[in-house]
Amino acid sequence: MKIAVQKDYDAMSLCAARLTAEEINKHPELVLGLATGSTPLGMYRNWIRMVKDSSLSFAGVTTFNLDEYLGLPPNHPQSYRQFMNEQLFRYIDINPARTFVPNGISPDPLRHCKEYDLRIEKAGGIDIQILGIGRNGHIGFNEPGEDFGQLTHVVKLSESTRQANSRFFPSLDDVPTHAITMGLKSIMKARKVILLASGEDKSEAVFRAVFGDVTESHPASILQLHPNCIFVLDEAAASKI
Ligand code: GLP
Repeated sequence: MKIAVQKDYDAMSLCAARLTAEEINKHPELVLGLATGSTPLGMYRNWIRMVKDSSLSFAGVTTFNLDEYLGLPPNHPQSYRQFMNEQLFRYIDINPARTFVPNGISPDPLRHCKEYDLRIEKAGGIDIQILGIGRNGHIGFNEPGEDFGQLTHVVKLSESTRQANSRFFPSLDDVPTHAITMGLKSIMKARKVILLASGEDKSEAVFRAVFGDVTESHPASILQLHPNCIFVLDEAAASKI
């Protein structure tokens, strides 16, 4: 595992944007795994600027998002599909038909999970997986205790995650109780993983991911076993390592 510590959120975002842009420029048909949450927004803004000044193109890129709330339709304002459209896809030259997000209202979620895995496989697998990290060490929506051996599946969200994410919803009761997420096995299959973390409130989760035991009680700790993983952190998130 490599660790890059940057001064602040803006520097972290630029560093991660440059790392990925370099790879996309080398391999224009790259398959990217994308994440939601506040953390990657700065990186996405840098990508948008790079596309505007023609130093980056997503024309050949395929994307797969990590997760989606179960029960939210794609056009729901808090769905992750909507988040991606609003924060990134509408501003870049990507082919919308090559952007994939799990469908939160599939009539058969279990079958949908299998189809999502197959689609990733057909695309040739994920070249670069972008990750944030939850305060409890979750990645995607893989909560503490999740089996390391899972591909895309349905999960029950922990109360702490629902509370953390309630800031985007009118009230805690509106936060879905379940989600579809790529599993830890899906994440480990990616050829390269870039995890972003910013702020003091992530420092304990980052510390345990880097130096703690590799244990299902801290999902991000599995990344210690990934052969090509980089943590891009700001100084506050790195303050305990
Ligand atoms: C959510 C997402 C994760 C994300 C995490 C941290 O629960 N499912 O993919 O990494 O929250 O979010 P933030 O970056 O806003 O702290």
